[in-house]
Amino acid sequence: MSGRGKFISLEGGEGVGKSTQVKALAAALRQRGIALVETREPGGSDGAEKIRELLLTGDDGRWSARAEALLFAAARADHAEKTIRPAIEAGTWVLCDRFVDSSLAYQGGALDLGIAEVRAVNQFAIGELFPDRTLVLALAEGGARARARDNEDSDRIGGRPAGYHQRVDLAFRQIAAEEPGRVRIVDASGSPDEVTRRLLDQLEDLLP
Ligand code: TYD
Repeated sequence: MSGRGKFISLEGGEGVGKSTQVKALAAALRQRGIALVETREPGGSDGAEKIRELLLTGDDGRWSARAEALLFAAARADHAEKTIRPAIEAGTWVLCDRFVDSSLAYQGGALDLGIAEVRAVNQFAIGELFPDRTLVLALAEGGARARARDNEDSDRIGGRPAGYHQRVDLAFRQIAAEEPGRVRIVDASGSPDEVTRRLLDQLEDLLP
């Protein structure tokens, strides 16, 4: 393989079947002969996995909104530098389960910090390392499904009230409207195979 690898992120609110689709999309890309690293956020490097623990455990009020946004950005800076950038520069593709747009939606849009403010903090963290394409899985009844699935076991952020998750969904749609070249909303309804095909369709122009 020659040149830089492509950087793809998969996003979405709670309960849209994202974990299943990360695996399916990774398999489909490898089947096309693409060398691929799968990674996730928060986490994806030793330091970032440590910060993940701080972010996802404890009471909802453990961190102020600004501290939460900065911790996600700190984890992302380490992940970008240690894992993502080296892979891309070696010509390997990177598929990331959540990335900067989760911060724009969950902290910027839904916590009222503002999408532009959180983007600025993240620009400091990752420089120009925005994904080549971001696929946002969206499902009308996503919140209800997540609650049914997670019950009381939700993590610190997943367990926030339904209104918070509605703001997350709205923010993802706003980001996609602002950056239609990079960010695509993908219908997460139907069979897993159908959804994977829709995701691949949105990568058509990047595929070798
Ligand atoms: P995780 O266990 O990875 O679950 P999933 O991706 O399946 O939802 O939990 C990550 C949680 O952290 C999730 O609720 C989204 C949230 N999150 C943010 O609020 N901001 C971020 O920047 C990222 C990466 C995640």
